[in-house]
This record gives sequence, structure tokens and C-alpha cells, in this order.
Amino acid sequence: MIVLKLGGSVITDKERPMTADRIAIRRLAEEVALSGVRELIIVHGGGSFGHPLAERFKIAEGFKEEPQLLGFSKTHRAMMELNRLIVNALLGQGIPALSLPPSSFIITHDGRIKALNLEVLRSSLERGFVPVLYGDAVLDAVRGFTILSGDQLSARLALELGASRLIFGVDVDGVYTSNPKLDLEARLLEVLRLEEMEDVARVGGATSTDVTGGMLGKIREALPVVEAGIPVVILNAGRPHNIFKALRGERVIGTVLCR
Ligand code: IPE
Repeated sequence: MIVLKLGGSVITDKERPMTADRIAIRRLAEEVALSGVRELIIVHGGGSFGHPLAERFKIAEGFKEEPQLLGFSKTHRAMMELNRLIVNALLGQGIPALSLPPSSFIITHDGRIKALNLEVLRSSLERGFVPVLYGDAVLDAVRGFTILSGDQLSARLALELGASRLIFGVDVDGVYTSNPKLDLEARLLEVLRLEEMEDVARVGGATSTDVTGGMLGKIREALPVVEAGIPVVILNAGRPHNIFKALRGERVIGTVLCR
């Protein structure tokens, strides 16, 4: 079973609120279909659907005032709208995609998933469905509510369900030695070993291994997954054929995180 996280920046236009990249979504659905992989969970990010609303209403920080309630509901609704587009594209390719809204079965504790009821997810996989989940606005036992990232969710699912691989499809080619958008000397790391991941997770972007917030978060979430012996691949899902190849286990330009 493979867990595939599709970053929000790949499936939406980050510059325009509530704008999906329909061409990318369609292409990715085609690649998933052509790969032939059916034991699969897809988790997608928020991009310009979830993030602007979550920020405007300060949902991640937790409940502070009444007007945030509407903000929470609107953030969740935006994610459902994006989810509908993803599910439609997959159905269009003949993939039995099944939407499972995280906020309906996950409550976090201070931003982290604690207990997780996997019954529905397991049963739907066994039946042959492809569950489609997403980063979501969720209830939180400490903060009242918060934002659960698709990164945390996909890593946790890969771990709990013993996935054979976790793939992060993002809008850069992988993990670099420094920020490739600022540093011409930045080099792509083809492999990142556990010890190196631990160093990066500890020191963050403070040293030469300067990774952007999003990449650092992914490495941190990937740590327990890699520790458990499940390889994690970070690659550019914006480049045609990458997801197709990665699902089939073929080599793709990107970074492999492993023990
Ligand atoms: C965010 O999910 C979901 C919301 C803001 C509601 P992610 O954190 O996984 O989204 P991306 O991939 O960074 O856009």
C-alpha cells in the first residue's frame, strides 16, 4: 500500500484564492490511473483553498473568539470543494475514489494526532476503494480546534497502516543543501539518511542544510516513518510522469529518505 501526498501548491494556483489547477489535477489523476496502483491512499494539501481562510481566521492557533467558528466551517468547506475536484478527476479515470473527511474522525491533541480510528479506512482499502483525504480544520482537545496538515496525516497513516512507501509530491525537485530559490550553489540531495534527517530536524534551517519551512516540516513528519523502515520519497509532482513513475517504483529525480 502506498500513501501519496499531493501538495497544495501542485494542485492549486497559490497566487489566486480558491483557484484549482485543473490541468494538473487531471494529469495527476491520469498518472495514478495509468500506474495501475490500486492499493493507495491519497492525501492532498490545501494550497489556495485551505490556507488563506485558515490564516484569516487564525484557525491553527485555536479557539479564541466566536467569529472563528464560521472561519473554521468555511476552511473545512473550502477543503471539501478542492477534495470534490480531486475525487471527480479520479472517478473520471475510473478510480473508485472515496472521500474521507479527516475532521469527521480525527481529534488532535495540541496539534498532534493521538488515537486514530482506522476501521473505516482499513475496510475501504480492503474493499478496493482509494481513500482520498486532505489537510483539514479539525477539533482539538487542547486548543478547541486547529489545522491538521496533510503532511502529518499522510505520515501517520503510512506508519499505522504499514505502507510500503510514502510519496510527497511537491513543487520542487526534492530536498536541497540550501534554498534553491535563493542560492545558485544549492545541490539536490538524492538520498537523505536517518542521521542526517535527525540533524536537519533538530537544527532546522539554521545551518548549511537550509530547508524551507514546508520541507523541514516534511522531514520532521517523515522521521518516525523512516525509522520504521518505510522509505519516503520527495519529488516534483508538477513535472509530468513523475508520479506515474514513482507509483510504479521507477527512479525519479528527487530525494529518497531512508534508514
Ligand atoms: C493544509 O494542508 C490544510 C488547510 C489549510 C485546511 P497542508 O498543510 O497539507 O497543505 P499544503 O500542501 O501545504 O498546501
